[in-house]
Amino acid sequence: MMEEQVNQEVISMPRIGDPAPEFTAVTTQGEINYPSDYEGNWSILFSHPADFTPVCTSEFMTFATMESQFEALNCKLIGLSIDGLYSHIAWLRTIKEKIEYKGMKDIEVTFPLIEDISMDVAKKYGMIQPNEDSTKAVRAVFFVDPKGIIRAMIYYPLSLGRNFDELLRVVTALKAADEFSIATPADWRPGDDVIVPPAGSCGTAQDRMEGKEDMTCYDWFFCTKKLDEETVWKAIKK
Ligand code: BEZ
Repeated sequence: MMEEQVNQEVISMPRIGDPAPEFTAVTTQGEINYPSDYEGNWSILFSHPADFTPVCTSEFMTFATMESQFEALNCKLIGLSIDGLYSHIAWLRTIKEKIEYKGMKDIEVTFPLIEDISMDVAKKYGMIQPNEDSTKAVRAVFFVDPKGIIRAMIYYPLSLGRNFDELLRVVTALKAADEFSIATPADWRPGDDVIVPPAGSCGTAQDRMEGKEDMTCYDWFFCTKKLDEETVWKAIKK
């Protein structure tokens, strides 16, 4: 974990490959211990700047609408802002009872939303980025694997609503990479060709270039192979 002193305060920035920092928190679905309660599941821990704000509302409605797609990948969602529990409850009730947006209505947010008035959790996860805003969390997204290891993270500024298809693609690609020991090229989606590991672990460079392996090589360092969509989904869906 990287720590930095900013204005006398220690700011932690977890990194890819680190164990997810542990905490106990009150949420809209009761108390949680993270990441231990999520052992055996993938999870996405994400922050938003504030309840009762428009970008965050559009994000929660979108995420809640897509929750079943994350659930199908055995991936749980956990939100956080530095608002209190009663604010969270009132905001989520307003979303359900009053907001109709882009065809989404009557949206019930059933995943936990953490209250973090003390900012303890937000600070542990580098969600408070003072040069953006010192009293609100930025839009951070942590992808945590079933062993509690941070596998990817994305930070967005306050003004930028996230792309939830991309968040789903990240979980999909991380799980596929684990299952098939491959890497995924730019913009990869299930059904697209995948990148095979470097020469040595999978045929020699010469074998690859001569087409002895079932691969397409663009050069000695860049080989792909087919991985059909059904096989991917079968392996990564729970
Ligand atoms: C929003 O969610 O709309 C928002 C929240 C904080 C700052 C800017 C926008």
